[in-house]
Amino acid sequence: MLEDLKETFLKEREAIQSLADVNQLRVKYLGKKGLVTAQLKALSTLSSEERPAYGKRVNDLKVLIEQELEARESRLKDEELQRQLRAESIDITLPGKAVSHGREHPLSRTLSAIVDIFVRMGFSVEEGPEVELDYYNFEALNFPKEHPARDMQDTFFVSSEVVLRTHTSPVQVRGMEKRKPPVRFIAPGKVYRCDADITHTPMFHQVEGLMVDRDITFSHLKGVLEAFLHRMFGPDTPVRFRPSFFPFTEPSAEIDIGCILCGGEGCRVCKGSGWLEVLGAGMVHPAVFEHVGYDPGEYSGFAFGMGIERIAMLKYAIDDIRLFFENDIRFLKQF
Ligand code: DAH
Repeated sequence: MLEDLKETFLKEREAIQSLADVNQLRVKYLGKKGLVTAQLKALSTLSSEERPAYGKRVNDLKVLIEQELEARESRLKDEELQRQLRAESIDITLPGKAVSHGREHPLSRTLSAIVDIFVRMGFSVEEGPEVELDYYNFEALNFPKEHPARDMQDTFFVSSEVVLRTHTSPVQVRGMEKRKPPVRFIAPGKVYRCDADITHTPMFHQVEGLMVDRDITFSHLKGVLEAFLHRMFGPDTPVRFRPSFFPFTEPSAEIDIGCILCGGEGCRVCKGSGWLEVLGAGMVHPAVFEHVGYDPGEYSGFAFGMGIERIAMLKYAIDDIRLFFENDIRFLKQF
């Protein structure tokens, strides 16, 4: 009887697949109503001579079953753990995914270089709005209404009194309104003109500069801008000042550097002239001072403006302005 029980158990043990099977057998044999438990209960029906020997056999069987089930259980748990470890393992021999690094945009680099040079000369950095009043963009810069120079700026109008600024020069006016002389700042930022070809985009960047104090002369203008251009393009770069016209400066000048591509011999980029225009500048017009409440009899100053794209195109020999804004990683990676 006990031998049969043992045989059956051993057979059933072989069929164990899972922890649930283990539990099922534990209940079946050792549970309150289990087969072995029933044998233990039946001991009381035996005579006192039979009881100790039979009792020992039942107990041995109970211990055997307990040990067997425990052994099975711990093996199953171990297998489960191994399976989990395998499933969650990381193959450290797989090649990694390369992280591709960004680069500073060539325009940001150029602007940083410009800002750096002027900050070393004591200029601070000023900002102004891109959506600007006609007053600051034109009127206070001595462009009267209906002045033909307004037409040259291809203005985007938001309304009759509001424009997208066509240059950074309005920041001159805002900067002077805020403080008394001496003033010395540059004003970089975005500007907008309705124009598009390989050297023009509807949005581009300029840096404005302004220096006002007592006794500022044209030679200060020449000195500061020559120093700037020599640091930007190299100390041997030829610099040339040409008379020009801007409504907000008098006298006005345009400033050229010797063509850095052909060295002055004449090429496609300098259109055969050997010179490249890089800056507009001049002595601040008394009418501008009057708009901001500075006494033109007491103060004088110079202003200048340049296009950052143009400087970057010359510095890095880029022949199409649109490349700056296409975000083609192959272009950007070259700087
Ligand atoms: N605002 C001018 C432009 O966009 C550039 C310029 C010329 C700025 C002469 C100046 C200046 O401050 O004095 O073409």
